[in-house]
Amino acid sequence: MISKVGSPMKTWISITFVCVLVLSLFSGCSTTAKSEDQTITMRLAHNQSETHPVHKSLVEFARLVDKKTNGTVKIKLYPNGQLGSEREVIELTQTGAVDFAKVSASALESFSPVYSLFSLPYLFDSRDQFYKVMNSSIAQDIYKTTTDVGFRGLTFYDAGTRNFYTKNKAIMKPEDLKGLKIRVQPSATSIKMIELMGGSPTPMSFGEVYTALQQGVIDGTENNETALTDNNHGQVAKQYSYSEHTIVPDILIMNNKKWDKLSNKQKKAITEAAKESTAFHKVEWEKAIDKATKEAKAKMNVTFNKPDKEPFKKAVEPLHKEFAKKKATSRYYKEIRAEATGD
Ligand code: GCU
Repeated sequence: MISKVGSPMKTWISITFVCVLVLSLFSGCSTTAKSEDQTITMRLAHNQSETHPVHKSLVEFARLVDKKTNGTVKIKLYPNGQLGSEREVIELTQTGAVDFAKVSASALESFSPVYSLFSLPYLFDSRDQFYKVMNSSIAQDIYKTTTDVGFRGLTFYDAGTRNFYTKNKAIMKPEDLKGLKIRVQPSATSIKMIELMGGSPTPMSFGEVYTALQQGVIDGTENNETALTDNNHGQVAKQYSYSEHTIVPDILIMNNKKWDKLSNKQKKAITEAAKESTAFHKVEWEKAIDKATKEAKAKMNVTFNKPDKEPFKKAVEPLHKEFAKKKATSRYYKEIRAEATGD
């Protein structure tokens, strides 16, 4: 459960991956039917464990799809990064070797530059602003920006605020990051954020973080509270600081060709199920954060700190200027800020 991508695991991932591909090629490809007379089974990959709220919400998504399609569309889940890192499962979704993947918006940045906005620190001033934007037509437009590279977004799941945590140093101001190797998601924007705050960014995939922390390859990282408990980071990292620098949504993506082959009724069912699973997740998420925080305090001895966020905001102002100006992001940057603040 701890180290998700060790060597034996990698071998296993490769074997599973090959099996999935072989299945796709020789099973008559169970997902090619347009008709609703036959049952379609689709694959959904993600990198969280079966106890994580995201997994529960995806189980709910699959249940709703089954129900709404009268059992004509079944979804099989592949959790725990079984089919690879987020980048790898996005690529599998592009080719159609898997049908759906749940990934962080940060991982989508290199497939559609617009997604980089979600890794822009302090894009949202609050969770309410975040929900307002994600429930608006802006998010729907963003989901469509990847159709020409093979997949589309369906919905989002709350993945909380991201905060810094290290083995033993409380991060109370940007200067505290100086000289520290901080793991970030493999996203150019996240790398720039750490550089501007004064730390040394170390991009790596999520499955490698626990071991990297334990072995001292990194001094700290940043994530929501469930990473402390569900991924055991709290066993090693003892100082968690609410810098609340980003609110990066998880995104459910789907192979575009598979989408086009569905009947209108099935498309409607999937769209509705996705939306309803997001609402289900909102409630699950709140419970999970509360539980993770209590558990990390009581069982793992993690200290939770509340730094002043202003100096962190100040440090990343140049990034806001850049995003407001550059062609790939300026339109959405302005739209998101206007929707968020009601201006
Ligand atoms: C969050 C997110 C994952 C992501 C992880 C990360 O947990 O939900 O999808 O992989 O952050 O930091 O990589």
